[in-house]
Amino acid sequence: MLLNSAPVLLNLALLQFPVGTQVALVRQVIVIDDEGKLVPTALTESLQLRVYQAITPGTRYTNYINGPSSHDQDFFEFRMNRAELFARHSGGLVAMHPGETEYATFSTHGMDAFESATPLERQSVILDRCRSCHSDSGIHSVQSRLQWMKRSQDVRQHDNDENHRDPIAWETDATIAHKLHQPEFKLLQRLWDGAGLS
Ligand code: HEC
Repeated sequence: MLLNSAPVLLNLALLQFPVGTQVALVRQVIVIDDEGKLVPTALTESLQLRVYQAITPGTRYTNYINGPSSHDQDFFEFRMNRAELFARHSGGLVAMHPGETEYATFSTHGMDAFESATPLERQSVILDRCRSCHSDSGIHSVQSRLQWMKRSQDVRQHDNDENHRDPIAWETDATIAHKLHQPEFKLLQRLWDGAGLS
């Protein structure tokens, strides 16, 4: 088997956006309805923001965490809290504070804090973790730029499909299609059918 181990290099000719640019990621809940179908909703479960206070040039190599531009940005996150949501406070969103910690559930590479054979993994600071994926210089730390490329390719292939022109509908369709193929969702469907719910 041939393995291509050449590193993916950044294109430094890509134009930068100005200092002061802010980017946001809004995640909205897709629920399972009473027929077992996946349905998108307008309920926001988290809002993440990054603010570029500087744009320090870097090298062509991605440099997570400690590269020259790793302290250019401020990081913010707001999460849905059920009590706040039902009390109708601020759309149910609460801010994560600097220094606030938790056990990671995203991108843990299969490591489980409680079932690990090695001593218990420690909790980490929520807003410090952002740096491990968003440290490169300006536009190079915008991770969704790869999705934009996938979408434009898809839009060209499905010229007549309305949903492929609206970026949110495109993202929602792609997410639902992905979920439908996951083994745990198939298992849920089997349990659902077995229980005679559909
Ligand atoms: C394990 C890697 C990882 C970590 C840690 C991470 N992100 Fe991201 N982030 C991503 C990826 C991948 C995307 C692109 C998602 C997409 O294309 O739908 C993204 C997208 C974003 C975006 C939209 C703009 C962009 O870069 O595309 C914002 C804003 C964002 N993240 C903020 C944060 C904040 C704030 C934190 C910390 C609380 C954080 N991220 C932690 C991987 C990560």
